[in-house]
Amino acid sequence: MKEICVIGVGYVGLVTAAGFSDLGNRVMALDINQERVENLRKGILPIYEPGLEEVVSRNVKAGRLSFTTSYAEGLKNAEFAFIAVGTPEGGDGEADLRYVREAAESIAGAMQQPLVVINKSTVPVGTGDWVAEIIRSRLSKPLPFSVVSCPEFLREGSALADFLNPSRTVLGSMDREAADKVAQLHLPLRAPIVITDLRTAEMIKYASNAFLATKISFINEIANICEALGADVKEVASGMGYDPRIGRQFLEAGIGYGGSCFPKDVKALAYMASVQGRNPQLLQAVMDINEDRRRMVIEHVESLAGKLEQSEIGLLGLAFKSNTDDIREAPALWIAAMLRERGAKVRAYDPVAMENAARIMPEIRMCKDPYELADGIDALVVVTDWNEFKQLDLSRIQKLMRKPNLIDGRNIYEPAEMKRLGFHYRGIGRGYNGGNAGAPALAGKKDRTR
Ligand code: NAD
Ligand code: UGA
Repeated sequence: MKEICVIGVGYVGLVTAAGFSDLGNRVMALDINQERVENLRKGILPIYEPGLEEVVSRNVKAGRLSFTTSYAEGLKNAEFAFIAVGTPEGGDGEADLRYVREAAESIAGAMQQPLVVINKSTVPVGTGDWVAEIIRSRLSKPLPFSVVSCPEFLREGSALADFLNPSRTVLGSMDREAADKVAQLHLPLRAPIVITDLRTAEMIKYASNAFLATKISFINEIANICEALGADVKEVASGMGYDPRIGRQFLEAGIGYGGSCFPKDVKALAYMASVQGRNPQLLQAVMDINEDRRRMVIEHVESLAGKLEQSEIGLLGLAFKSNTDDIREAPALWIAAMLRERGAKVRAYDPVAMENAARIMPEIRMCKDPYELADGIDALVVVTDWNEFKQLDLSRIQKLMRKPNLIDGRNIYEPAEMKRLGFHYRGIGRGYNGGNAGAPALAGKKDRTR
């Protein structure tokens, strides 16, 4: 059993704290947000994450997990301190490191014994060295400490499962002994462990997120071409995915990536490159394609529903992806704002994200279920791929709508079936099958027949 302090009780911090306590360690989870800590002490979680409540409650009861707002209390017995605070987008795409700086300063102010400081937040390359410098310069007495980078790869919606079954653990440090100690902590997870230097570990995180975002923008570009030429991107992705060099994952075409990470991390990597005089051409294209996706949704709505003034549009889903209540950088918010700008009224339904969305966009009418959402609207847009949306009584929905226009931003429905039910249906990149185009002339036919 090790003594661990986890700083930040958001998506990453709370899952890390719950996960390590479940592995038998004693964990103090620390946050400066008093309300969050007080609620956690009462068993109320600040985020929705499947399975997390049960693991938190089990470990609190077992005395392995507790919560504090005090760095002195959090670090009292700790051998390890994980930093898991937010690193949101600052100006120009640069990551805003103010919370990391504050955490490092607080660690230095409260540390009473040797400590391994482990950075889990996604931070620009070089931040680990900077954190070490902050701590060194602020320690009131000389105490040994090391900084290890341990980037997190979990996904929201399956965060706990991802923590417990990671694809790999990446550790970066200039102090091999400290990295080995952190490796020991992760051994029960039985994942491959990559030990490298600090900066390389920090870069592995950005490169991984940027690569996944690139896959999404790539398939979205292919979807555009499919739409024009009458091919079906879903089948294209399946056909490509069997090649193990390509893989089927992250080839879902749709309304583009959102969330608290891909948008900010691709921007931050591009910013890092630009500052060093490098031209991040591919990253720029990835971001441009992603922005176009949201505009494309509006175009689809307009082409089916006509002028948006006086119309009412329903959004099925608000969260940036399924199984989360997170609406940071959610495409739904952008789409709602664009629709409203064009004179449409917007209503929405989401199983868990309505409360968060209502705080930011109170002008969206929140509905109690998908049927209230559909009643009398001019178009329905599938924004989030919640499983429960795949099981709806679509015939009832079709009848409830004023105009049966269905824009399936996540390709969760089958075009032929939707047409049979009487919808005017648009999928993404479903080409001829999706009814997005007639049967277009064969591309290149002119040349080939010459
Ligand atoms: P979050 O916003 O959900 O949580 C951050 C928490 O840190 C908040 O509760 C906040 O009150 C707390 N905090 C801020 N400053 C603090 C301080 N000085 N001391 C103590 N607590 C403080 O953030 P998140 O989504 O968990 O992301 C955290 C980091 O992990 C980010 O760098 C993010 O890029 C990275 N990451 C996130 C995910 C994800 O799925 N959300 C996955 C991998 C990596
Ligand atoms: C992503 C990564 O998958 C995690 O490995 C990483 O740890 C995390 O970012 C992070 O650094 O925060 P997350 O943002 O939770 O996780 O969600 P994803 O499942 O990756 O989805 C991101 C966005 O891409 C969502 O909007 C999703 O709808 C979209 N997406 C995903 C697609 O449009 N197509 C796909 O094929 C896959």
